[in-house]
Amino acid sequence: MSSPIDRRQFLSGSLAAAALFTVPRGARALGATALVRDVVLTAREATVQVGTNQWATWTYDGAVPGPEIRIARGDRVRIRLDNRLPQPTTIHWHGLAVPPAMDGVVGLSQPAVQPGQSFTYEFDVTQSGTFFYHAHVGLQLDRGLYGALIVEEPGENDRLRIDREYVVLLDDWLTITPEAALASMRVSGGMMGGGGPAYAGYLLNGTTVPSRLAVTRGERVRLRLINAASATPFRVGLTGHSLIVTHADGQPVSPVEVSTLVIGMGERYDVIVSATNPGTWPLLVSPWGSPVPTSLGLLVYTGSERNVAPPFAWPPELQAGRTLRYEDLRSPSLAEPSAPASLIVPAVLSGGMSGMGSGTASWTINGQIYPNADPFVVREGARVQIAMTNRSMMPHPMHLHGHTGMLRLPGLSGAGFAKDTVLLNPMDTATLEFTADNPGRWLFHCHNLYHMELGMARVVEYR
Ligand code: C2O
Ligand code: CU
Repeated sequence: MSSPIDRRQFLSGSLAAAALFTVPRGARALGATALVRDVVLTAREATVQVGTNQWATWTYDGAVPGPEIRIARGDRVRIRLDNRLPQPTTIHWHGLAVPPAMDGVVGLSQPAVQPGQSFTYEFDVTQSGTFFYHAHVGLQLDRGLYGALIVEEPGENDRLRIDREYVVLLDDWLTITPEAALASMRVSGGMMGGGGPAYAGYLLNGTTVPSRLAVTRGERVRLRLINAASATPFRVGLTGHSLIVTHADGQPVSPVEVSTLVIGMGERYDVIVSATNPGTWPLLVSPWGSPVPTSLGLLVYTGSERNVAPPFAWPPELQAGRTLRYEDLRSPSLAEPSAPASLIVPAVLSGGMSGMGSGTASWTINGQIYPNADPFVVREGARVQIAMTNRSMMPHPMHLHGHTGMLRLPGLSGAGFAKDTVLLNPMDTATLEFTADNPGRWLFHCHNLYHMELGMARVVEYR
């Protein structure tokens, strides 16, 4: 197998336009003087190339996705946001438990950064894993204001025998403004077509053109899958290969081998692909509810010249193969907490039309439409369970800010696995359990941004 020398030649794959920051691995021990990583992100309008189309939209640094931020656990980051957009904005560090004032939620954590102004986010990064950052004002994320945030765990790539890695950022691509899309959803009903706008297409690292993932036979390749879409859960599979799931939402899980997985908005999965099947292999993605896959990537082996036509349907071996279920995942390290939960908060997710006659579509938690909704009040130190029930025919990826919870499922005993975003399929139930150890006011919401805007959110408030 690979020698340490090979390891040093580790290639962090740069896909399409994604900027790349490599960090020399194993260069310093944790606990050594933390490095401060200085980053400047400029939020501004730009016209970007999406396949053969031009897209005039909002970006970080002129590109979609924005620059990849790659750091190591233990680093301190200092990220200055320069707002050159015509509207106020903020950034949220999705999945990182940052201090409340750095979380990017207007009205809870910080005032919005006005056009022409700057704000510096500064915090210590104590977690490792696959995260992303995105705008957290209204529907701005759906214009393309997001980027990958990778926190390397020193030594992990050696331990997992990874030779190469690619960051795979998925998105749904909207060519009208999200505000126009929302306006029509408000009146056309929350249930019918209530998933989201009609998207023009789907993007992998900002493009509809299949991204090339180069690989050499015998390598183990890590894919960091991030769903940055605003309203589209995706099914993902790689023809000719299986996916070994090693991390969910950045946190390790005992490895599970699957053919396909479904990733909700805001969720992340790290998978390992064992490159043992030379050729050229489409990476397939289909939006929730659609049986038709799009080929958004190509795994290309060194020396393979084969041209492949993207399939029009999921190939039988992926179709018939195992799809990842939450029930399959277990954390290798999370222990059953010594004390039972001291607070159980029910969260019933549903939607409908409010008002009579020309009603307005809404999405609700326990029947309330945020911001006209009561906070979930918690006490510092409490062990809290948010017991979620989806009483609708749409999937809802529910995201909790400021904490990483433990997912519990009905009928499964023992400690689950760590999660900050939980995809509830229609009529599903699941419980997110967390320790209230980060005092502040935090948002808990559906990561379908249109559902969030139509009311599916709550504040978790420490008192
Ligand atoms: Cu990525 Cu409030 O969310
Ligand atoms: Cu939702």
